[in-house]
Amino acid sequence: MKLNHVLESQQFTVPILMELFGRTELMKKVVARGGTRDYDHKIMANLFYKPSTRTRFSFESAMHRLGGHVLSTEQAHEFSSEMDGGSLEDTIKIMSNFCDLIVLRHPDADGAKRAAKVSPVPIINAGDGAGGQHPTQALLDLYTIYNECKTLNGVSVAIIGDLDNGRTAHSLAYLLSKFDRVKLYFIAPENMQIKQDILEHLDEHRVWYKCASSIEEIIDRVDVVYQTRIPKGKLDPSIDLKAFNIDSDVLQKMKYNSIILHPLPRTVEISHDVDQDPRAAYFRQVKNGLYVRMALLSMIFED
Ligand code: CP
Repeated sequence: MKLNHVLESQQFTVPILMELFGRTELMKKVVARGGTRDYDHKIMANLFYKPSTRTRFSFESAMHRLGGHVLSTEQAHEFSSEMDGGSLEDTIKIMSNFCDLIVLRHPDADGAKRAAKVSPVPIINAGDGAGGQHPTQALLDLYTIYNECKTLNGVSVAIIGDLDNGRTAHSLAYLLSKFDRVKLYFIAPENMQIKQDILEHLDEHRVWYKCASSIEEIIDRVDVVYQTRIPKGKLDPSIDLKAFNIDSDVLQKMKYNSIILHPLPRTVEISHDVDQDPRAAYFRQVKNGLYVRMALLSMIFED
């Protein structure tokens, strides 16, 4: 199956996701044997207007492992002609002459969609704006749940943090809504709860969900804890940040076969002593990002 632009999670169907995950398994074998030269005629351009470690480097690593070539800037706002008054649209029209695919991280929530409107080559949304989406992060998150829990139907997932602005949380909620009997718990301070449009989407797709304001309320019943950051500056001083953090006390209340995910980077929301617990799956999740992104690129480059 050939993919074109990757802009938001809603565009994926269950058959496309299953094909992606099948290819992801194959990519593990490709990496184990040192990569392939199959895509040495392809060039990927990484245009990052905001900082990134995981997304940018895992896309670059994925392209190298596939035998392709990479053009990259992590400071596109400074190094593109937009400094001199040019537009994102013009930058995309120019860059598309030099590559077969553009991976874009842009500060505007509609940046990737604007780019796709004018681009003759596929655009991958690598995270857009505060409150936008980060679909490829959600693909690797979903794959990690599938790989660790051996199913997606019937999983119960707590999504924790600044869910108002959390683009990974938005994209993951949309993807999980495609599976049967999923239960979603949204854990956030009141002023950072999940957006109404996502709850309306869940209602339309008859997905069970609950909004709560403390990990304690749900920690003993979920299969997956998806932890994200809470910016301290946004937190009402009367609220204890600990209500949203995972430490060794919280671990003791979790199911023995549950997992903890985090898109990273983390600050205080998962204490470092949690890393030793086999349920801490966030570094395995990072590694899956390489395989999933290789699989995604292979679907975009399909003839
Ligand atoms: N998870 C994620 O998007 O990390 P980066 O900001 O480092 O790309």
